Amino acid sequence: MLNLNNNHKNLVITSLTVYVFLSILIAVIPAYQLDKVQALPSMEPFSDQQLNGLKIYNSENCMSCHTQQVRNIEMDKVWGERPSIPSDYFYSKKRIDIWRQSPSVLGSERTGPDLTNVGKRQPGKEWHLLHLYNPRTVVKESVMPGYPWLFEEKEASQVTDKDVVIPVPTNFLKDPSKKIIATQKALDLVSYLTSLKQATIGEMPSSDFIPSSKKDNIQAGNNGVPAGLDGALLYTNTCSACHQADGKGLPGAFPPLAGSKIVNDANPESFIKIILQGYDARAEYGVMPPFAENLSDEEVAAIATHERSSWGNNAPAITADDVKKIREMINSTAKK
Ligand code: HEC
Ligand code: HEC
Repeated sequence: MLNLNNNHKNLVITSLTVYVFLSILIAVIPAYQLDKVQALPSMEPFSDQQLNGLKIYNSENCMSCHTQQVRNIEMDKVWGERPSIPSDYFYSKKRIDIWRQSPSVLGSERTGPDLTNVGKRQPGKEWHLLHLYNPRTVVKESVMPGYPWLFEEKEASQVTDKDVVIPVPTNFLKDPSKKIIATQKALDLVSYLTSLKQATIGEMPSSDFIPSSKKDNIQAGNNGVPAGLDGALLYTNTCSACHQADGKGLPGAFPPLAGSKIVNDANPESFIKIILQGYDARAEYGVMPPFAENLSDEEVAAIATHERSSWGNNAPAITADDVKKIREMINSTAKK
């Protein structure tokens, strides 16, 4: 038996084993998984200037008052169009060098507003520069500190054409004869702040979600039954914006359908339910919208069959009848 009371070797070895095991579980594996996260297709890469701006954001510790994460709860809806997903941090999560992971800009304190979408709310560079120099110049009651060391004071006569002069109201100046010039650091930081815009993820459903594909694909057969639905084309029009043409999804945003247990399950119930009702089960992925209103039973069957027979998947076809049964089941439970 392990005697931890009297045998110091056992005590040390046991604690060390537990420590190493937990470190791998809590730190190493998640860090490794984060490395696989990819950018959303609609995201623009950072420019060098924006990257420098992010470094200043970190060194000035702006995240002690500002978050950059939209949580999946009602009160966060004002900060973005959707909850944040790991892919949103693709560029800000790059390692600084081999020794240092990039600091987290998600933040946990919200003394000031969340900045996920501030580039959309406040696109004006001049507003940001004034606000950084002294927030009270533009927001009278602000409690945010000023960052005057990101600016230079110059005599009016020394100002050159290259200088970016900030129109600070004279009552905010110690010496009203001086001009306030933005340094490169301030300009980089503002370039980063105005780039903060939440990227769109795929198409969200609306009443005319895929009108064109409906017209292209439903050719009435002899009895008025739609014939020759093209599952591949329907997939491209309806699902590939998120799950990608190769069915591999995007780590951090959309799960792969290639090799998916749900897609290949002999019992297609959960698969069809996901298509009809949408899906939001895991925090590491975004939200899948429901397609019950947008796709007929035949179309769902065609897409599902296409997915079950593509990208190495190999599962039996799904018929419109299968879909019909599940749709009726969903509708009957909804009525109760
Ligand atoms: C002591 C807490 C605090 C710190 C530190 C802080 N801020 Fe703020 N920030 C606030 C508050 C409070 C507001 C809301 C009032 C205002 O607009 O000034 C705000 C507002 C903002 C806004 C406008 C947001 C909007 O939705 O209009 C931006 C942009 C901003 N801060 C950027 C920064 C940057 C960049 C830094 C670091 C250089 C920083 N803040 C540091 C508290 C802080
Ligand atoms: C707006 C983006 C978007 C579109 C469009 C979309 N999905 Fe999804 N899908 C998702 C997300 C996000 C998840 C993961 C949700 C979660 O787990 O929280 C998902 C999950 C799934 C899953 C579960 C896979 C697994 O193994 O976990 C299936 C199956 C699926 N989608 C099929 C489809 C089909 C079929 C279509 C087209 C009719 C489609 N999706 C269109 C975003 C989308």
